[in-house]
Amino acid sequence: MWPMPDDAAVATSWTNGLRATVHLLEKGSGEKVILKVYRPGFMGLMLREYVATRYVASRIPIVPKVLAFRPLKRELCLSYIHGQRVLEWVLERFGGRNTVLSDFQNFHGLDTNAQVAEAFSRFRDATSEDACRLKEAIRASYSSLHQIGMLHGSSDPRNIIYDGSRVFIIDFDHARPSLAPARIERRSLMRWYGIAT
Ligand SMILES: Nc1ncnc2c1ncn2[C@@H]1O[C@H](COP(=O)(O)OP(=O)(O)O)[C@@H](O)[C@H]1O
Ligand SMILES: [Mg+2]
Repeated sequence: MWPMPDDAAVATSWTNGLRATVHLLEKGSGEKVILKVYRPGFMGLMLREYVATRYVASRIPIVPKVLAFRPLKRELCLSYIHGQRVLEWVLERFGGRNTVLSDFQNFHGLDTNAQVAEAFSRFRDATSEDACRLKEAIRASYSSLHQIGMLHGSSDPRNIIYDGSRVFIIDFDHARPSLAPARIERRSLMRWYGIAT
């Protein structure tokens, strides 16, 4: 799997934060992997993500696997999760008519954006079958994370991917072991999705 063969090309990239750039690499065979490259000065976060992702992946199947770790190059290679981020899933169904999904690929002001706030307010109130199924999938994934004593610390909808039945949690650079993860994460999960684990 690593180093990537010569025919691997960057299919797309994300720069949601200042800490890292994330690339989707696609091989000639169509196989996809994620390469997260941390900026200088963020070694601590990178180590946290590496350790937490490995720990969680060894216990529950709802996170990416660490395929390679190259600390000197500040690179972490992760398995690709198929599906749609919950951000886009919700904006597509509950966003206003003028919502353009591609605007949110590299997007910094998620917490303060009115379009996002309105869409998630509608999602929280929604009682349709597909919205309830997703809310239950989010609850189940966070619950299993909390049951193994792990706090995610960054439960916004850019960090969860839905494949239509299961929710996968990504981006563990704010994760930490905790004695009371459900209580600590409760406010954020309520605020975004209206759920408690
Ligand atoms: N394993 C993965 N599978 C699929 N997409 C991913 C994966 N890891 C990251 N991504 C995509 O890259 C984006 C940024 O990755 P993330 O780890 O959240 O970095 P950041 O720390 O910059 O928020 C995610 O919002 C998601 O769209
Ligand atoms: Mg993220």
